[in-house]
Amino acid sequence: MTTIAPLTQSVAWQALKVHYPKVQSLHLRQLFADDPMRGERLTAEAIGIYFDYAKHRITDETLMLLLQLAAESGLRSRIDAMFRGEKINVTEKRSALHIALRAPKGQVITVDGEDVVPEVHAVLDRMADFSTQVRSGVWKGCTGKRIRNIVNIGIGGSDLGPVMAYESLRHYSQRDLTIRFISNIDGTAFVEATHDLDAAETLFIIASKTFTTLETMTNAHTARDWLLNTLNQPDAVARHFVAVSTNAEAVAQFGIDTANMFEFWDWVGGRYSMDSAIGLSTMIAIGSDHFRAMLDGFHQMDEHFRTAPFDRNLPVIMGLLSLWNNNFFDAQTVAVLPYEQYLKRFPAYLQQLTMESNGKHVTQDGQAIACQTGPIYWGEPGTNGQHSFYQLIHQGTRLIPCDFIGFVEPLNPLGTHHDVLFANMFAQSEALAFGKTAEEVEAEGIPAWLVPHQTFEGNRPSSTILLGRLTPEALGKLVALYEHSVFTQGVLWNIDSFDQWGVELGKALAARIIPELETEDRNPLNHDSSTNTLIQHYRKARFQSH
Ligand code: F6P
Repeated sequence: MTTIAPLTQSVAWQALKVHYPKVQSLHLRQLFADDPMRGERLTAEAIGIYFDYAKHRITDETLMLLLQLAAESGLRSRIDAMFRGEKINVTEKRSALHIALRAPKGQVITVDGEDVVPEVHAVLDRMADFSTQVRSGVWKGCTGKRIRNIVNIGIGGSDLGPVMAYESLRHYSQRDLTIRFISNIDGTAFVEATHDLDAAETLFIIASKTFTTLETMTNAHTARDWLLNTLNQPDAVARHFVAVSTNAEAVAQFGIDTANMFEFWDWVGGRYSMDSAIGLSTMIAIGSDHFRAMLDGFHQMDEHFRTAPFDRNLPVIMGLLSLWNNNFFDAQTVAVLPYEQYLKRFPAYLQQLTMESNGKHVTQDGQAIACQTGPIYWGEPGTNGQHSFYQLIHQGTRLIPCDFIGFVEPLNPLGTHHDVLFANMFAQSEALAFGKTAEEVEAEGIPAWLVPHQTFEGNRPSSTILLGRLTPEALGKLVALYEHSVFTQGVLWNIDSFDQWGVELGKALAARIIPELETEDRNPLNHDSSTNTLIQHYRKARFQSH
């Protein structure tokens, strides 16, 4: 376990504290006026990603101090430790080796003395073989019909990554396949996802690292009943169910032949698993070549993160800016605003990646953290958000740093759509940074009483991330950019970004409440008075309706 002096006591942090008031009083208007090259200087470009951070409230000194903070936190050695397969997930005593999932054949990455890369490629090859069989119609259901519907049952990392990847790469998907996702325990999710499907043409992928997750196992059992009741063939499970898991025993117990199981390992965190076998639905949708191209994109970013000097390292700069906004400007949230319709589920995916990773209140050695940790991530694709919540970002009382994301080459060029889309994205970050002064509003002849309403104070920070075309490779780079930015921040706060103990208490309490809802038991309830009354209210409705 690493015992590092608290971040807030480090020399660089203390220097940043002294430095912050100077920057706080500066306006982006001034910073740009003073340095005509700012928009060109404060950018970084690597592996096909152009990252503009000029519209953050920083000076060269801020950057220098943030980089010093990174150096003092031991970020370099922590990156090396991750890539070496050290057990950096200290509370679960595990490596966090998602980087091994996209390592090319021949690279050696060891866990407990064993090179894991050959196993990774063996599973990828099996996935490729299976995907090809499904896509080509060679893999048939038990009645001899070809598979046309793929339903992924999983939750958290076993759902959000696959959903996001499928939606993002839909352009590359085989269009005669229907791909659906069931995650929520709410029966509606299952019913709506299956109501129009022919069971004889449906393949379920049960995706669960542990194969014990309540929601996933409940949905999996419902799926099995649905299939067996509809097809009336006791041996149907073998042709209609495959599993993705680390838990072969539980998979076998469920009734899935482990020959139809795609393995991954405990050194892959759920929210870092979309490029493991958890991505089987993605691979079936887009094909193995595209999936491998996505892995290559991830790997390019891994290499960039591992080797680039910090002042040109995209995830490091991104992580440091996020920390600056969060810990010094007290920004509570980050808005993720992809100007790309295919990325509509990207903000939801990032919520788990960022908040399950960095929503922690103690350091790795259990000490209370003296500053805020992970900010709240949220967002919607542009331009929809502009007609909804942007009002608050522009004129509300909160500071909300934004990540604008765009692909300069459209996948669906249609008249002027792409130019208009990009014009909107650029306009938003410009408006946020520079605003509109009262004088400018007055000069337009606006009556005095309306001037305050039409004034934009500006000085609202944003990053703009531009890529070429939304390809599988580009998506891999983008996701890895955020993964490593999250890691960078976690290292600075000295937290374990790879555990998630905060989800456990709710699970345990739900397990206790389930039987209390299933019976009309008159035994006294032993919760607090609010929970007791809620349970009674539910029971009344449940048992009256029968
Ligand atoms: O919500 C907690 C969590 O453990 C996530 O970290 C994980 O992605 C999800 O549950 C699903 O877990 P599993 O893949 O084991 O079903």
